[in-house]
Amino acid sequence: MNIYGDYEETLNQVMADLLEKIQQMNQQAIDHHQPKLYEHLISRIKTPASMAEKCQRKGYPVNTTSALRKCKDSIGVRIVCNFIDDIDHCLTLLHKADWCSIVQEKDYITNAKPNGYRSYHVILDVTTPYRDITGQVPGHYFAEIQLRTIAMDSWASLEHEMKYKHNIQNAARIGKELKRCADQLASCDVQMQTIRQLINENN
Ligand code: GTP
Ligand code: MG
Repeated sequence: MNIYGDYEETLNQVMADLLEKIQQMNQQAIDHHQPKLYEHLISRIKTPASMAEKCQRKGYPVNTTSALRKCKDSIGVRIVCNFIDDIDHCLTLLHKADWCSIVQEKDYITNAKPNGYRSYHVILDVTTPYRDITGQVPGHYFAEIQLRTIAMDSWASLEHEMKYKHNIQNAARIGKELKRCADQLASCDVQMQTIRQLINENN
């Protein structure tokens, strides 16, 4: 039996429903002649092995309650946006949504991590038609949403790949170059936003 116990199927269902809600939000924006909310969406259920490792690392008992309640990122969704403004638009809509509440926000865009990582993380408490581990129906499930621009996303995937590859002698240099790259991409995001505004002013 894996760490999600009897809840693995439900987690997959909750994630599928969540993706549908986000796709609906996007469709509504388009129907209202607003720019699409995001370029693409990706999602995953954290593997049982890495969830077990995380519980151990955090000092939680390695069981289903820890995996679903103490850890809040068993369900992960990444919303990759074209422009910084689109991230704000998504956040506004998530705050307004009646099917979830935001229980935690980390703004690594205003406050980038020292290595240059940028992204806006929110933890959602999602109301679902399914029973949860406390026995409640409607049940509550947590999901981590990462909102980023395409530029932030391309940086994060490169950095993630290199984290496991670079040798110790080069680590400092690579870190410095990555940080420079992250800052240049961030400045591009601001420029792109300005270009979009200039185009809109002419219409
Ligand atoms: P956890 O308990 O492990 O979730 O730690 P945390 O809650 O302090 O993590 P945080 O919310 O800062 O980040 C969680 C997720 O963000 C990670 O699993 C990554 O997907 C992403 N992330 C955070 N920092 C970095 C980073 O420096 N580089 C990359 N590539 N991704 C990051
Ligand atoms: Mg986290």
